Amino acid sequence: MNKGKFITIDGVEGAGKSTQIDFICSYLHRKGIEVVRTREPGGTDLGEKIRSLLLDVDSKEMHSDTELLLMFSSRNELIQNKIIPALNDGKWVISDRFTDASFAYQGGGRMLNLDRITKLEEWVQGTFQPDLTLLLDVSVDIGMKRIEVRKEKDRIEKEERAFFERVRSGFIERSKLYPERIKLIDASRSIDEVQNQIQSLLESL
Ligand SMILES: Nc1ncnc2c1ncn2[C@@H]1O[C@H](COP(=O)(O)OP(=O)(O)O)[C@@H](O)[C@H]1O
Ligand SMILES: [Mg+2]
Repeated sequence: MNKGKFITIDGVEGAGKSTQIDFICSYLHRKGIEVVRTREPGGTDLGEKIRSLLLDVDSKEMHSDTELLLMFSSRNELIQNKIIPALNDGKWVISDRFTDASFAYQGGGRMLNLDRITKLEEWVQGTFQPDLTLLLDVSVDIGMKRIEVRKEKDRIEKEERAFFERVRSGFIERSKLYPERIKLIDASRSIDEVQNQIQSLLESL
């Protein structure tokens, strides 16, 4: 059996990731492709426990390096115990966030040294990378407006506006570094327009 494809979707909160993952899963399903949907941080039993540590609003004093290491611990668990086995089974995997988010949030947002993040990426992933990354780009204003109705914010969502501006820039920088893999999509367009762009990218994959 052929190896499946690994797709990641990223961008600030409110960019439309969950909305478009719903579309991607049903699109691939219609093509007869078996899809595993997952998310970061989390996606495995242990990973979801790490997620609650990361997003706990009571952990205000968490050191930025600890945050980064926990992200990569959750990611290691996800790659080894879920993503690689699924791909080997011929399934496709779609992840809501992946390593680009560590560069954007911990690198951009928290201003950690990018070379250190690269070292962790090499350690945990070796040469393993997504086949396609959809980067949904919207202004911080639009993103925040779309999620206004959500319940309480988690520890990272509580950050200040300037933090999210740095996150957005961090994502854009990543897409410039890896234009073949990371497709920057203007997610301020309508849901249908974004969906059409994603559909044509999936077709070429
Ligand atoms: N392109 C879009 N235009 C307008 N509203 C959108 C668009 N994409 C998503 N939304 C809406 O914005 C909100 C946040 O979308 P969601 O998919 O949950 O974003 P994310 O998962 O990136 O945080 C939802 O109410 C969704 O219906
Ligand atoms: Mg979401």
